[in-house]
Amino acid sequence: DPESGPARRPAPDCSPGGGPPPGAGGGARHAGALGEPVIRLEGREKVTGAARYAADHAAEVPLEDRAYAWPVPATIARGRILSVDPGPALAGPGVVAVLSHENAPRLTDADDATLLVLQSPRVAHRGQCVALAVAETLEAARAAAAAVRVVYEAEPHDAAFRPDHPGLYAPDTANAGEATDRIHGDPDRAYEEARFRVEAEYLVPPLHNHPLEPHAATARWSGGRLRVYDSSQGTTVVGRTLATLFGLAEESVTVVSEHVGGGFGSKGTPRPHVVLAALAARETGRPVTLALPRMLLPSLTGHRPFTAHRVRLGADGEGRLTSLEHAVTTYSSTVAEYTEQAATPGRHLYAVPNSRTTHRVTRLDVATPSWMRAPGGCPGAFALESALDELAVACELDPVELRLRNDTAEEPDSGLPYSSRRLADCLRSGADRFGWWGRDPRPGTRTEGRLLIGTGVASSTHPALAQPAVAEAHAAPGGGYRVRIAAADIGTGARTVLTQIAADALGAPLDRVRVEIGASDLPPAPVAGGSTGTASWGWAVHQACRELLYALAEHGGAPPEAGLTVRADTTEEIAAVSDAWARRAFGAQFAEVAVDMDTGATRVRRLLGVFATGRILNPRTARSQFVGGMIMGLGMGLTEHSALDPEFGDFTEQDLAAYHVAGCADVVDVQAYWLPEEDSRLNPMGAKGIGEIGIVGTAAAITSAVYHATGIRVRELPVLPERLL
Ligand code: MOS
Repeated sequence: DPESGPARRPAPDCSPGGGPPPGAGGGARHAGALGEPVIRLEGREKVTGAARYAADHAAEVPLEDRAYAWPVPATIARGRILSVDPGPALAGPGVVAVLSHENAPRLTDADDATLLVLQSPRVAHRGQCVALAVAETLEAARAAAAAVRVVYEAEPHDAAFRPDHPGLYAPDTANAGEATDRIHGDPDRAYEEARFRVEAEYLVPPLHNHPLEPHAATARWSGGRLRVYDSSQGTTVVGRTLATLFGLAEESVTVVSEHVGGGFGSKGTPRPHVVLAALAARETGRPVTLALPRMLLPSLTGHRPFTAHRVRLGADGEGRLTSLEHAVTTYSSTVAEYTEQAATPGRHLYAVPNSRTTHRVTRLDVATPSWMRAPGGCPGAFALESALDELAVACELDPVELRLRNDTAEEPDSGLPYSSRRLADCLRSGADRFGWWGRDPRPGTRTEGRLLIGTGVASSTHPALAQPAVAEAHAAPGGGYRVRIAAADIGTGARTVLTQIAADALGAPLDRVRVEIGASDLPPAPVAGGSTGTASWGWAVHQACRELLYALAEHGGAPPEAGLTVRADTTEEIAAVSDAWARRAFGAQFAEVAVDMDTGATRVRRLLGVFATGRILNPRTARSQFVGGMIMGLGMGLTEHSALDPEFGDFTEQDLAAYHVAGCADVVDVQAYWLPEEDSRLNPMGAKGIGEIGIVGTAAAITSAVYHATGIRVRELPVLPERLL
């Protein structure tokens, strides 16, 4: 196993009054302790097929009178529905109902207009759900959906994005509350006066999340209560949203997401499928399962929007940045505003006294974009890190050396010191491991037969934040513990790592601790998103377990007959976290490519990443996150792209036959390493989120390697063969 050792240090003492709580194990380490490569606790269930996903509950939970639903997608990009004729559909065998805006139960606005399905005759984009067929079987529902007759009045639409689209405007904020514009100093003048200058435009096409498990939900109403099995990154928010939409008390809704087959952001907010399933179940009085066909995911579950980037860099004679400008233009739908925060990397990565980073968005008649792994930071780093590589060429400086010269101890945008920042160490360590040093910078000079070989590098960063959560810890007579929190394991290993955190805080062996997650009737928790899951849930779990030890001590060290339960809420702790530090994770990726001079085909022969992300809590699951992120970045670099069809207003790539996710044969050699990093300022575990940073710099490392191999600068992703010929 090639990983560097995980950081070994005692957990910071966050207990009240100092000193470990009584009975905390006296520093003894147990098998499966924090930092050990514990195998996923549900691994056997998953590989044997026993693990139930949202749609599986339809078959395995006794749901008498179960029905299946299939959506009818709009076939126009803009306009209104004149009529919905369910007659031919209802005549089919086993068809139970056809829902449309004419008969669907009314919903209350829950601040996400994409969820107000079947409420209005307006059509805002092609693929929007305009009706829903419900039938005894999946096949009957699908046939019925095809038989629903919808008559539209089409209106002229605009589904063509241009970097200078006339509808561009400055939103109040970009996604995640990031500032729309940030300006420091005088970037124009500094650029004019710079010794070295680079100005270039970069394009990142629409990208789709396409988790392996498509979005699915099974909904059942009984006695005014709603129970839903959903595929979601967070049951608390889905439960609260459904309660608002259907006018219910929060306690009347239960959402269960026991296992989730990936999300990558597309399951980070409630999606229309869960609302449709609940509407259909209410209307028909039967339990209803809706599993979205893969081809409807791009229109209904969010996507990474097209981003156009104009980057200008100025540097002095030593290669130190004097001016940085990153202007991003992108689009959202007419339904909701979403602005990919892609100009943000320049606010965090390098020391630069003069900078301007801006976002502009326009509204098109298209599906609503949303979160996809490292929103903003990922496409933004492609542009900025590509420009850094171009600057390295202009300055005749090694690209690693250029980045080292622009390292900073203070966050350029906020002026705050970093709670920890080891970007330079990641670059140096990666360069050592990769065999970077001594690289001949001249492009097109290294060949193997008809192959051109090149190497490239890029930096990565991602916020390291935490959100409030509640956890409950219970001690049973006999020495067992149970911890409950509405966390989500979307394939990351969260269930396993939270069990390790609990066992560590309790000073107990792993097999004495059972962690329950994945349901909205557990103590409320934030989503698995923004790489905040482990930090947020782990903090609450840690706190509940420590408080349980204090409570146990008051009972003489053993729980009473009925057991002992405590609840911890980190809202106050997180509100009290000092604003004195900039909190981010850092990393560096290195790529080696081979380009076939005859076909233009590019292979990534090696990818190597080194990350500094606080304490690594489980090296086995952590490695999967880093490697998985880098593989997704490999797909972004070489194969993944989608296009909006201006004529029809829909994506031309809707399924996995047309949208090419990197396959096993594309992934030759991907290695992830990490550096020990102490950061007790973040949370009791000293951990930074690791789910997203792996993708951030990867595509830029690949395109820079392609430039080194061929002398061709690919500024529009992905590196398609025709772009090299
Ligand atoms: Mo992730 S894109 O923050 O759900």
